[in-house]
Amino acid sequence: MPEFDDVPVRLAIFISGRGSNMKTLVEACLAGDIPARPILILSNKYSAEGLEWATENGLPIAAIDHRAYDGDREAFEKDVQETLEMHDVEFIALAGFMRVLTPWFTEKWEGRMVNIHPSLLPKYPGLHTHKRAIEAGDKEAGCSVHWVTEGVDEGAVIDRETVPIKEGDTPESLAERVLEREHILYPRALNKAIEDFLDREEG
Ligand code: GAR
Repeated sequence: MPEFDDVPVRLAIFISGRGSNMKTLVEACLAGDIPARPILILSNKYSAEGLEWATENGLPIAAIDHRAYDGDREAFEKDVQETLEMHDVEFIALAGFMRVLTPWFTEKWEGRMVNIHPSLLPKYPGLHTHKRAIEAGDKEAGCSVHWVTEGVDEGAVIDRETVPIKEGDTPESLAERVLEREHILYPRALNKAIEDFLDREEG
């Protein structure tokens, strides 16, 4: 486990796949840019590539396969919650975590959980954001970090980054350009969110 000196906030990062945003957040915490210590990388897929990177870098991981719960979202979340409690997690960053969370979970973590979404929210919540932006003839796309509330991708936006949509862009080429901005946005926005959380805790 990497060394973090006296860092207050115990952070869990949730992923479902590649984990490039997770990696950026871990590196920003290590660099001292975010007052948090990533103490758990949790995935709903055993095969998530990001888990390998986390393991290689000495970070504790947990994999809880949602498919084992036969569609019972709350039962899945109860096991996730138990794992978070075991690790004394205080704050959650969703980073490419592709499960919709129920109100049971979002209410518990309200004000302590953020998400990155690949669109300029409130435009295009949900899936296929880049395809939808191109088909709508938008001139700009981007990414947003927001507080997680009950409604999917509906919580207050903390910060956003914008990129131009270019002639001939495909959903893939646009996704690639937006991802570069995600890696700049997420550390900055998570820092803002955690400062806000610490202010509330102290206040
Ligand atoms: C990112 O583009 C993120 O914004 C998106 O998944 C990708 C994960 O990439 N998240 C969502 O679509 C959430 N609704 P990563 O695993 O390399 O960070």
